[in-house]
Amino acid sequence: ERLPELLGIMPKAELHMHIEGSLEPELIFALAQRNGVTIPYASVEELRKAYAFTNLQSFLDIYYAGASVLLTEQDFYDMAWAYLQRAAADNVRRAEMFFDPQTHTERGVSMATVIGGLHRACVDAKTALGVDAALILCFLRHLSEESAFETLEQALPFRDQFIGVGLDSSEVGHPPEKFARVFARCRELGLHLVAHAGEEGPPAYVWSALDVLKVERIDHGVQSTKDPALMKRLAADRIPLTVCPLSNLKLCVFPQLSQHNLGQLLDAGLIATVNSDDPAYFGGYMNENFLQTFAATGLDAKQAWQLAANSFEGSFADVAAKKQWR
Ligand code: HPA
Ligand code: ZN
Repeated sequence: ERLPELLGIMPKAELHMHIEGSLEPELIFALAQRNGVTIPYASVEELRKAYAFTNLQSFLDIYYAGASVLLTEQDFYDMAWAYLQRAAADNVRRAEMFFDPQTHTERGVSMATVIGGLHRACVDAKTALGVDAALILCFLRHLSEESAFETLEQALPFRDQFIGVGLDSSEVGHPPEKFARVFARCRELGLHLVAHAGEEGPPAYVWSALDVLKVERIDHGVQSTKDPALMKRLAADRIPLTVCPLSNLKLCVFPQLSQHNLGQLLDAGLIATVNSDDPAYFGGYMNENFLQTFAATGLDAKQAWQLAANSFEGSFADVAAKKQWR
């Protein structure tokens, strides 16, 4: 069977991954030791055993704890460099990486430290790995709009080192409307706009991400199949959905991978893509997401090529780069 091989070797873009979610337990322990930070787990094995999630919030609690070992510019570089090497091995040619500055600035780590380390890894990835990498700053939606504005202000001196903004963290109870004004400001600044919507939250959150925040892509969006009018809108406007199958499985969005609706999204003509979300926590990087999803759902080679094409079409890479990947 040649499908698994195809899934591995086909060039692809990753559009939905949180760099803090690529921190492997081994690196968490190494950084904790290097920085003299204590974490409430005795060993790598014990930490990994805690990765049994029941929903998004149960994951976020551990994810924020893991990120607490990041203190220096070199820490952020090392984390991003480890991910970019791993992405290159999966034939990822373009990586758009989310980062959560508030997780760090609230602990007293400066924006310069966070963006400096991540951006240096992106620059090195281009020359050393042939991976075109870019950063998207995410606002934490469980925090206030005021905090988001403050974060944007702190990031503006580094405006040329990130390409857009997104919205992540606890979805239910924190609708897109909460961030209408800060997204309007980001739009004026010429930043690309994306938002997590319809992961656990209702189709109404996808509608307001589109109509109120005016995002160009929806992160997750898998709840959209519950609303036929929304499906039509996403198809008509060619709004990419950055789907994360193993994440959805581990956070119990779908009870089994065989029940995932990726095939339904593709059949409806949506620009669906496959992504790893938080690969260190959800049991797989890009190729593992493709392999397990195709094995469980019976998607075929034609759909594999469609997903790869969608990933480049949906990316924010410049037109010349997109041509070269086609
Ligand atoms: N959803 C919301 N917030 C997140 C996620 C996610 O899947 N991963 C990291 N932060
Ligand atoms: Zn995500």
